[in-house]
Amino acid sequence: MDEVRRIIDKLCDTSVLTRDEIITLLENHNPEIQAGLADKASATSQKYYGKKVFLRGLIEFTNYCKNDCYYCGIRCGNKNVERYRLSKEDILECASKGYELGFRTIVLQGGEDQYYTDDLMVDIIKSIKKAHPDVAITLGIGEKSYESYKAFFEAGADRYLLRHETADFEHYAKLHPAYLSPANRQQCLYNLKEIGFQTGAGFMVGSPYQTIENIADDLLFLKKLDPEMVGIGPFIPHKDSVFKDMEAGGLDMTLYLLSIIRLMLPTVLLPATTALGTINPRGRELGILAGANVIMPNLSPVGVRQKYLLYDNKICTGDEAAECMRCLSGRMERIGFEIDHGRGDNIKFGNNAD
Ligand code: 5AD
Ligand code: FES
Repeated sequence: MDEVRRIIDKLCDTSVLTRDEIITLLENHNPEIQAGLADKASATSQKYYGKKVFLRGLIEFTNYCKNDCYYCGIRCGNKNVERYRLSKEDILECASKGYELGFRTIVLQGGEDQYYTDDLMVDIIKSIKKAHPDVAITLGIGEKSYESYKAFFEAGADRYLLRHETADFEHYAKLHPAYLSPANRQQCLYNLKEIGFQTGAGFMVGSPYQTIENIADDLLFLKKLDPEMVGIGPFIPHKDSVFKDMEAGGLDMTLYLLSIIRLMLPTVLLPATTALGTINPRGRELGILAGANVIMPNLSPVGVRQKYLLYDNKICTGDEAAECMRCLSGRMERIGFEIDHGRGDNIKFGNNAD
């Protein structure tokens, strides 16, 4: 127990832990340690960003995907999905609706869909920026070449989300078909950083075959990459996926990891994800109280939401964006936090909170 206390003190003082220390911290996870860590993590978040929660409006613009990741509901092998694509005009309309609702970050997220060529993406990015110059654009469209990423950045995209999924190559091979390379995925993250994107990596908590050692390696990978954003959420099985009978990731382990990540990367922008809100009705509030500081409501047209299901029982698929905003403001206020209506950049990039 003294050893765990020493590790927590070291984490709070230096933000650096060895692999063995991380493993000890994870093995000794209990409610008391978790609560103590959550308080320290939330205090750290507040030190840099105040009692604020940043908003990202998510537009899920295509559920076509050329990949067949075993965990994912929209993998190409799932023939039960009704596929859709939003046009440039649809996307602009969603972005404008988000803008009116007070969003200053728009996240364009989709499967890896060749229909959206680099030229089309560049056109969409430029059009959103032209209509709303004060909006930050985040992309989440998977692995692309250095040149493509550079073209998106030069068109005005500010941020890019690409979870590394797992830092252990053997574990990666259990979650993905052989043609997907974890080395390439990690290289993509380094390329994004070099180009100048605020970059986000991350992984699922409790994904099939994940070990404590895998999680330790994920945390060490994050520390080395030093991303501006980190996305983690519980793995949740999807009924049409290879892992349909696997157990979901745990609420408490996810909260514990959110706190550890906040303390390892003190200024990181860290969402309380929709997956966390799906496994527990108060998941997002608990995530914020554990050190997260971002929420990502859905701006996709209600008509397509049921078609973008990476996992079962996803929340908010029937609610208008305005309804989610009301609901979330209330939820955040009740835990003493306030929604910020600025772009919410990482402070390394000059945070311009309201
Ligand atoms: N459960 C939880 N998260 C998932 N993702 C994909 N499928 C699932 C699932 N079944 C996550 C992946 C991906 C992100 C967009 O969503 O980590 O990178
Ligand atoms: Fe969507 Fe509550 S956040 S309804």
